[in-house]
Amino acid sequence: MRAVDCIIRKRNRDILDAADIESFIQGVVEGSIPEYQAAAWLMAAYLNGLNFDETAALTRAMMTSGDQFDLSAIPGVTVDKHSTGGVGDKVSLILAPLAASAGVPVPMVSGRSLGHTGGTLDKLETIPGPSNSKSGYNPYLTGEQFARQVAEIGCAIIGQTDNFVPADKILYALRDVTGTVESIPLITASILSKKFASGADAFVMDVKTGSGAFMKTPEQARELAETMRRIGDRVGKRIVCLLTDMDQPLGRWVGNRAEVRESIDVLRGGGDERLRELTVTLAAWMMRLAGAETDLEQARQSLDANLKNGRALSKFKKMVAAQGGDPRIADDPGLLPLTENRYDVVADRSGSLAAYDTYAVGVASMLLGAGRQKASDTIDPAVAIEVHKQIGDPVQAGEPILTLYYNDEAKRAAAREALANAIRLEDAPVAPPPLVREVIGDGDATDQ
Ligand code: URA
Repeated sequence: MRAVDCIIRKRNRDILDAADIESFIQGVVEGSIPEYQAAAWLMAAYLNGLNFDETAALTRAMMTSGDQFDLSAIPGVTVDKHSTGGVGDKVSLILAPLAASAGVPVPMVSGRSLGHTGGTLDKLETIPGPSNSKSGYNPYLTGEQFARQVAEIGCAIIGQTDNFVPADKILYALRDVTGTVESIPLITASILSKKFASGADAFVMDVKTGSGAFMKTPEQARELAETMRRIGDRVGKRIVCLLTDMDQPLGRWVGNRAEVRESIDVLRGGGDERLRELTVTLAAWMMRLAGAETDLEQARQSLDANLKNGRALSKFKKMVAAQGGDPRIADDPGLLPLTENRYDVVADRSGSLAAYDTYAVGVASMLLGAGRQKASDTIDPAVAIEVHKQIGDPVQAGEPILTLYYNDEAKRAAAREALANAIRLEDAPVAPPPLVREVIGDGDATDQ
């Protein structure tokens, strides 16, 4: 079918065959279909939707558009986790070694920060190398190194190769400038094509909902989760989705080195309670998918034990050392220094912390230098926001709610301005929001 016919059929609400979607995507990647036709098709798909068969065909076509990791040499059921993106979300750094310590092989392919959300690779890249070495944590392993490390240590966290799902690179850039990002089928195909190309057998999806998430309402998050689960069924990959809270930053720190330090606190058996609780819950589901433990309560007990007995921390150190980082960071936070300059955002009245505009907190951290406005920006590893109060906490007038760690006065001022209306205090007591709102799917194939 000619590209223009593919556009016309979607414009007219016809259903496209898998073969037509496949050749359209191939044409986009090879360059025989120009970007203006790809953009027109995206708008037609955005306005008229794609059914589950079309979304599955789009996911497959994108997944096979470039390099794919072959992890068949790793014994057992490999399980990866994906988060739809949030503020202070450092779960992957804790989760990969924690699940590995409980017998789950974890091949994790992660991304970088963009906009208000952080990225796991930026956090890991703040880990220095052993003394005298110029380089630090290396997220770029070959497919063979990736599979070997997961087989030997139990986990690896790496970045995408240049030719990893090139169809998504092209389509995402077009969606960004044509107002076609917020489409559940297009988001599903974008996320799952990258996850499936990364080679794991099963996936736990952390679908964030709330003021700092892509999906602002639980209804939108549920629709995305349902769609992902159904596409998993059609492509033959097991998926469980957890709808989790992003109405406030996750944990006590936002910022790259600071989040590595906070992750180590949790791996040492301490750290923020909500962060630990969410990580253990996701890891328990990973154990279930891997067949390491089907009883979620038993799984949680083993995972809690591995946070306390040092097994999860030991996996983390091994992973860091294997990828060129200095494992001594796990014992000496001074190897991950934060900025000297600090600025408190204080409460202007007493009350209960009722709400964060979490998006604004993410933007403030980006403006300090912890994130990127565009993909080519560089990040400052030492800047951070410390979160002293969580929703439901009592606050006295004048008490610090957030502390900004900064290197540049103008950036500090811009971050402070972004936070102008980001915190709401109320007189009446406020209940903390539930951490996990819903679980969608049980990991078994249930195609419908
Ligand atoms: N994350 C992705 O990878 N793709 C989208 O379309 C949205 C979020």
